[in-house]
Amino acid sequence: IFPKLYYKSKELFFEDVPLKDVAEREGTPTYVYSKGALQYWFEEFDSAFNEVSHTTCFAVKSNSNIQVLKVLRELGAGADTVSVGEIFRALTAGIDPKKIVFAGVGKREDELTYALERGILMVNVESEGELLLLNKVGEKLKRRAPFAIRVNPDVNPKTHPYISTGLKSAKFGVTFDRALELYKKAKELRWLNPVGVHFHIGSQITDVSAFREAAEKVAEFVKEIRSFGIEIEYFDAGGGLGINYHPDERVVPAKELAEEIVPIVKELDCHLILEPGRRIAGNAGVLLTRVLYVKKREEKTFYIVDAGMNDLSRLALYNAYHHILPLEEKKEETVVADVVGPICETGDILAKERELPVLKEGDLLAILSAGAYGFTMASNYNSRPRPPEVLIDGDKFRVIREREKLGDLISREEVL
Ligand code: LLP
Repeated sequence: IFPKLYYKSKELFFEDVPLKDVAEREGTPTYVYSKGALQYWFEEFDSAFNEVSHTTCFAVKSNSNIQVLKVLRELGAGADTVSVGEIFRALTAGIDPKKIVFAGVGKREDELTYALERGILMVNVESEGELLLLNKVGEKLKRRAPFAIRVNPDVNPKTHPYISTGLKSAKFGVTFDRALELYKKAKELRWLNPVGVHFHIGSQITDVSAFREAAEKVAEFVKEIRSFGIEIEYFDAGGGLGINYHPDERVVPAKELAEEIVPIVKELDCHLILEPGRRIAGNAGVLLTRVLYVKKREEKTFYIVDAGMNDLSRLALYNAYHHILPLEEKKEETVVADVVGPICETGDILAKERELPVLKEGDLLAILSAGAYGFTMASNYNSRPRPPEVLIDGDKFRVIREREKLGDLISREEVL
């Protein structure tokens, strides 16, 4: 179905583990990741860029579990972070600070201080105000702050408007003109060290031509700033390569992305940085859930399951498609049904008018492609404890984050 996910004797397996075993031991809803699938996707991506010196900085926002980060660190990954919390996680997972980049439009002074103190590779600066603040922080710490400017190349990646970031109308980055002024300004500021340039055009991109268009524009810009004596070593091309959310959808090979970017980087003689998140973790995880009730109303069938929009919010937020498979293969009859969660909102829909096998109460399901932006976007809405995270390795599995308990829900509140 996807690498490492398959049916054997009518049971859905992830690596060598029948997912039913996980559901029975840990209950539902439960996030399950496969170490083998993480390795598969990381290597497929990273090796595509072998022709140039590069660092694959995993986008921690897509999956922040420390054990997941450790698996990737062992494969050589760095980290793309957007908060002190993410830097803390990456460092805890043992990721070398020299492989950590720090992005985000709204970094606070304490966050810049934390990042600089820990000696990260570079701060991806998104505004003039931030650049000046970074200089101030550098001065306080008596350390020149390595930075890149995030430029906004104004290309259309043709993806969901909420996750398309490289258009002029988006809040991210600065225009080329502004960026040039900022690099020039930085030359006069003692505590700043320009080391790179950064762009990220959006997420879930399957038309790789947008990457070339952006990379070409940024390469021209690098040449221009170099002519002012500003040396740029790192060319950070962001993340955003899409995945297939349906087993029959084409997977864009990472090689195709590499073909667009590598020649440009070679010519510039830069070290390439990439920030994939979804591409590495997305299809390395599933969310297990159980059918609680089958509700029929006139023509309509509702499968009410125990995972809701608080556990996996992508469906409600982006109207995203996630493929759903029963843990026990059923080949016979199908029915068109809505799969809905238990949350008190009409938008709590996991699948809309989907052709699915006929299910009964108690049946177990896997919601696929849930390894990225799944658990990290989960909340306690409706006071629901968040699900556990499980990591499969071969024929073994273990809990890498426990299911939250009722007590966790109120542990920071004044009770009496
Ligand atoms: N680098 C930067 C600067 C980013 O803003 C992002 C994602 C990435 C890298 C990683 O992008 P990826 O390779 O995972 O596409 N919650 C949304 C996705 C938001 C992405 C935000 N930025 C979703 O569930 O689709």
